[in-house]
Amino acid sequence: MEEVTKALKNDDITTIGVEGMGGVGKTSMVKYVAAQALKNGHFNHVILAVISQSPDLLRIQGIFADLLHLRLHEETLIGRAVKLRARMMRANKILIILDDMWDEIDLSSIGVPNYSELQRCHSKVMLTTRRRNVCHVMRMQAQITLDILSEEDSWTLFVKNAASSFQKSNAASSFQESTIFYDIARKVARECAGLPIALIAVSKALGDKDIEEWKEAAQRLERSQTANLDDKGDVFKCIKFSYDYLRSNDAKSCFLLCCLFPEDEDIQITDLMKYGLGKGLFTDANTLEEARGIAHSVVKYLKASCLLLDSTEDGCVRMHDVIRDTAMSIALSEDGHGFLVKAGCKLKNWPRGMHEGYSAISLMGNKIRKLPENLVCSKLQILLLQTNYDIQEIPESFFQSPSSLMVLDFSKTSISLLPQSLSLLTNLQALYLDSCKKIIDISILGNLKKLEILSMRKFPLMELPEEIGNLANLRMLDVTGGCIRRTIHAM
Ligand SMILES: Nc1ncnc2c1ncn2[C@@H]1O[C@H](COP(=O)(O)OP(=O)(O)OP(=O)(O)O)[C@@H](O)[C@H]1O
Ligand SMILES: [Mg+2]
Repeated sequence: MEEVTKALKNDDITTIGVEGMGGVGKTSMVKYVAAQALKNGHFNHVILAVISQSPDLLRIQGIFADLLHLRLHEETLIGRAVKLRARMMRANKILIILDDMWDEIDLSSIGVPNYSELQRCHSKVMLTTRRRNVCHVMRMQAQITLDILSEEDSWTLFVKNAASSFQKSNAASSFQESTIFYDIARKVARECAGLPIALIAVSKALGDKDIEEWKEAAQRLERSQTANLDDKGDVFKCIKFSYDYLRSNDAKSCFLLCCLFPEDEDIQITDLMKYGLGKGLFTDANTLEEARGIAHSVVKYLKASCLLLDSTEDGCVRMHDVIRDTAMSIALSEDGHGFLVKAGCKLKNWPRGMHEGYSAISLMGNKIRKLPENLVCSKLQILLLQTNYDIQEIPESFFQSPSSLMVLDFSKTSISLLPQSLSLLTNLQALYLDSCKKIIDISILGNLKKLEILSMRKFPLMELPEEIGNLANLRMLDVTGGCIRRTIHAM
């Protein structure tokens, strides 16, 4: 941290790269140091954008513009870059933070002034990355490595987060018992290999537990040494441990559902509720309102367990990218059926390869045009294809039998018809067709005998077909924002 602070104060250094493994604390440290530098007057503005694995340059420009109170009316990247660059040059002493970079980016294409221009206006660029090579190719003048925590620092962080167990042990135990407890706790902390994200997750899971549970935890963590004990092995072991400690099935499933959304983006709790309901969670709820309440308390519990993060947006939550990677491995390790997730990454084609083994596929928020002729995926329970505006057609034999599909989302696509093979989805419980503005016939839906939730917000037709009346198990029909004039008799 001192090295970064020193580099920020050094007028000869304009570009700083902070490199370190996932979850080691790069983002937290950079944000902290930047806030200090702002407070001390070294900078007038700090602007931060998360770049992620598939950067959306227009979005990054938008974030910077918002933070600089600039309106960008231009459509093109270059037009916006010119305006942004001029604004950045006008402002003195800006710290531009590019968080979580994976590859080289041409900063001038976004509108970041070049390094000598930055120096002239006393501004700097700071980036964080897991890849050391990114600091080299981006020609960072100062390249700083953030290492894992020392044993003592790890211990301090651990004790802070598991405070109630330590208090309990101090209050209720003899000196000898207390020493045993501390020995076990030290052992558990060491298993987290100095990684803050792992230390926090494990200490939160054990925070209020008694000594017997701590003993068992120490053994469990020791036993779960992964065959390939690399950095990722340690994180996986610790996050999985914390996941296993979750008390309810609803919490475990909601946690895994979170990795179906695009990386580093806000997740709407309502969406978690939607998919959770479709997957048969929240069985204690009798009404949608109750389900919403349970979803919110599950999210609160996951945040308290440090498995999810607060979002700045109302009604949303976030998932740390390290936790997300681990959640996907957990999904695979649970029953051997992993998730295929390529969400919000500008994908134009359906991913190649076999899909047989997946239990969830999320390709939401892409630019996919064409779906495969048939989706051979008998274990698939969740298929999320929403916000692919270019999908116009679902091939006739797309769905296959047998099918385990429970949740299907085709919202915000340009489909007009539903294929006959939809009738093969005998286990489908929730179907989302929101904002499918080109749809002309949905009568086939009458064959989905198990359907409980049908959401067709902004439904473009004036009436619902008679066949909807056959849906004996339907609990929720949402046609808000549409133009339906006439309801059917059979309902
Ligand atoms: N020194 C620390 N003390 C307490 N908590 C920390 C510390 N460093 C990191 N954390 C916590 O650990 C978690 C991971 O940290 P952070 O997001 O900063 O890691 P990162 O290196 O940016 O990871 P990534 O490469 O995935 O972006 C966060 O929840 C953060 O609050
Ligand atoms: Mg980070």
